[in-house]
Amino acid sequence: MRRRALGWIWGLMLGALGASALAANSDARNRTNYLLHCSGCHQPNGDGRPDSGIPRMSGQVGHFLRLPEGRAFLVQVPGTSQSSLGDADTAAMLNWMLYAISRNEVPADFVPYTTDEVTRLRAVPLNDAPHTRQLVVEKLRAQGFKLD
Ligand code: HEC
Repeated sequence: MRRRALGWIWGLMLGALGASALAANSDARNRTNYLLHCSGCHQPNGDGRPDSGIPRMSGQVGHFLRLPEGRAFLVQVPGTSQSSLGDADTAAMLNWMLYAISRNEVPADFVPYTTDEVTRLRAVPLNDAPHTRQLVVEKLRAQGFKLD
């Protein structure tokens, strides 16, 4: 009986260790994907280069999640949709990136992107990213959110 209880405790401990190791692993993978595929333009910290037309994502990109069209925009914008990352890696990296560079702006009820959602959104090309962005930003500003 006592043996069994010990076995149980061991199982739980190993399970917890395994889960945190896995999380650390995927964090590292998401970070690497961001650095390889996005940071060349967006900078490692997400500050972008606003003077060269690359918007600052740090401290504001999370606000886009407040509107369905803003949420879609983050996937459909060419930098995301046309990268060589697969849909599963893109979903995981976006979920990681939003908290990494814009934690305070991610709404509390944010439901993480799924692979299927990325697949669906990627299939619909965005014709005019700056115009789409403008529409989303104007709506958000009207709701009182501050965006560049
Ligand atoms: C070659 C440069 C370049 C790369 C690489 C790039 N982007 Fe971008 N990104 C841009 C530019 C320029 C914009 C402004 C919109 C536009 O004109 O496409 C932008 C806009 C965005 C936006 C909208 C942010 C906002 O505030 O409007 C997101 C989200 C985004 N990129 C995500 C990514 C992700 C994720 C990656 C990596 C998978 C990536 N980008 C790679 C250049 C790049």
